[in-house]
Amino acid sequence: MKKYNFNAGPSILPQEVIKQTAEAVLDFQGEGLSVLEISHRAKYFQPVVDEAEALFKELLNIPEGYRVLFLGGGASLQFCMVPFNMLEKKAAFLNTGVWSKKAIKEAKGFGEVVEVAASTNSIPNDYEIPQDADYFHITTNNTIFGTEINDAKLAEIYAKKGNVPLVADMSSDILSRPVDVSQYDIIYGGAQKNLAPAGVTFVIVKESALGKVSRYIPTMLDYRTHIDGGSMFNTPPVLPIYTALLTLRWLKANGGVPWIEARNKAKAELLYNCLDNSKLFTPTILNREDRSRMNICFVLKPGYEDLQDDFFKFATSRGMVGIKGHRLVGGFRASCYNAMDLEGVQALVDCIHEYEKLH
Ligand SMILES: Cc1ncc(COP(=O)(O)O)c(C=O)c1O
Repeated sequence: MKKYNFNAGPSILPQEVIKQTAEAVLDFQGEGLSVLEISHRAKYFQPVVDEAEALFKELLNIPEGYRVLFLGGGASLQFCMVPFNMLEKKAAFLNTGVWSKKAIKEAKGFGEVVEVAASTNSIPNDYEIPQDADYFHITTNNTIFGTEINDAKLAEIYAKKGNVPLVADMSSDILSRPVDVSQYDIIYGGAQKNLAPAGVTFVIVKESALGKVSRYIPTMLDYRTHIDGGSMFNTPPVLPIYTALLTLRWLKANGGVPWIEARNKAKAELLYNCLDNSKLFTPTILNREDRSRMNICFVLKPGYEDLQDDFFKFATSRGMVGIKGHRLVGGFRASCYNAMDLEGVQALVDCIHEYEKLH
């Protein structure tokens, strides 16, 4: 039976990327060595990192003056690395859920933190950004609750921030839509949703934003170390970086970010439309403009809650994988990352329709 992978992360990757990775595990580019055993210092690997950085820049139209780093530690390490490098006195945060809260907790160890607004099931827009903040931090997609800062609300943030540097956690929506990188000093995220298997973290950093704090920064936590070392100051996660390169090539070959954005829009419309018109289910995010295209959360309507386990079993029997909602939200979550195609979302919609007919 065909499986449809709706896991929230680690998550679906393009089939051809998985196949190419498997080939490289057996024989990396005809070298007679596995990608698992090549040295990152060997002649083979530098071109991989260089091409991955170049493709990231090309696909997101990243302007001059920025570097793309591939590091370890996950987005969670960035929650402390960002303030280590950027927070002298005060940072401001838009709190849109669990991941924002974790970033806020770490920043509090470095200076004053102002939470300008908080909401888990909508994206606030009625707030001011303190103009004396060292940076303003946002989480563009709320993986757990299923909200996303849409382009219009991002544009409001760009207008509101004035000269305050902007930092974003884009773990779960990077490369899913165009983004004006010139508005940001740092964009970071775990790659295990739209890019690669778990183990690598991408950081897009504006070089001129660094070197402004007075504290000592441990070598490994200083972005400048990794810029100088070309992401190879220490042993990098070789395999996930290689797969990230393959995913970036896949994205470019298919039409780049405009292509994937159109596909992501179509997928989200298909599933939300089904849920909005469903007899049994309802999306958890009612404010349509704040709905995530990446993580679509839904629950059973009042009166039908008892069907929770039954629907889960039904969907599993039809090949749906990873649709259980996060424990904080309950219900169901279909993560429709870049590699999920329209056919996969249609299969879930068909499964929902089929189930509805039974009730
Ligand atoms: C928005 C967001 N930020 C941060 C993280 C944490 O990432 P990591 O596990 O790579 O530390 C996640 C993981 O799901 C996430 O969705």
